[in-house]
Amino acid sequence: MMDIRVELTKTPKEKPADENKLGFGKIFTDHMFMMNYTEGQGWHDARIVPYGPLVLSPACSTLHYGQTVFEGMKAYRAADGRVLLFRPQENFKRMNRSCDRLAIPHIDEEFALKALCQLLELEKDWIPRSEGTSLYIRPTIIANDDYLGVKVASEYIFYIILSPSGRYYESGLDPVNLYIEEKWVRASKGGMGTAKTAGNYAASLLSQEEAHEQGYAQVLWLDGVERKYIEEVGSMNVFFVVGDEVVTPELDGSILPGITRMSCIELLKDWGVKVTERKFSVEELVSSVKNGTLKEAFGTGTAAVVSPIGEMRLGDETEQIGDHKIGKLTQKLYDTITGIQTGVLEDPKGWRYEVCKG
Ligand code: COI
Repeated sequence: MMDIRVELTKTPKEKPADENKLGFGKIFTDHMFMMNYTEGQGWHDARIVPYGPLVLSPACSTLHYGQTVFEGMKAYRAADGRVLLFRPQENFKRMNRSCDRLAIPHIDEEFALKALCQLLELEKDWIPRSEGTSLYIRPTIIANDDYLGVKVASEYIFYIILSPSGRYYESGLDPVNLYIEEKWVRASKGGMGTAKTAGNYAASLLSQEEAHEQGYAQVLWLDGVERKYIEEVGSMNVFFVVGDEVVTPELDGSILPGITRMSCIELLKDWGVKVTERKFSVEELVSSVKNGTLKEAFGTGTAAVVSPIGEMRLGDETEQIGDHKIGKLTQKLYDTITGIQTGVLEDPKGWRYEVCKG
């Protein structure tokens, strides 16, 4: 494995004084990990260096054509000081799958995890400990050719930055309201929807803005072909509790395969709950709301973990879901996943990854 050169900052920053005012993704730690890729040479020059701006050519290919992928992970500090990650191998596996779609060279998953652990050990005092906080981790790969032709790049930068963060949504676990997006599409089959890449998020921004203007927190995304089936909610996967069945859209080529999604499915199955990955149409959603069988609805993602849906606009009417309160299963999933992540609960499935002792 490559050696990692370390250059420590000479000007360490003040750590945030109030963990309740962190916000999300606004503050960054003292150091970051970086390495470069050059065609013919592979990944090289692995280093931990002071956090700071990247110097890029204005012609940098990522800025023009979006050949880039990223991941989102979180590190927690347990009560006994241990630094913990949640299923980090899955993130680097997914990053390589995203790389495949964007024609970006693979990273060595084991090495990426080792580099992250070394960075976390150095920055562990930045990990907040209050409830609802964590150190958000953003591994990113950008194409870095100084060239305006549209082609697969021959140079890349991989970097990992760390951000002490509070809850992703200020509303926390308060159920949010949303509507079904009928005008814009996030992704369609054969596109890039299964990859964690900038373009999918760029495609969602206008819709998010329009939703906010109308007083809604998020939108439900429909499939791009028939505009009939529900795919995601905001930037998250989505689940519906209908009668005694939990339904989540099947991964059929345009949905991001979320690690929280996968963990929720596994937990629900362990609890003996019937969970089905299948198509779920707007028609079925409307009828399950109207006939009272829709008990709970929630989004899942790394950033928010679980986010309950309390209200939906369906046509001209606004319908309440579960009396606008967080549902039992939603709460149980949130408590179980965050309990495992933070070291409070047992970890029978071996999802926790210990970076270092306190
Ligand atoms: C998540 O982790 O849920 C997301 O995808 C949101 C992230 C892009 C901030």
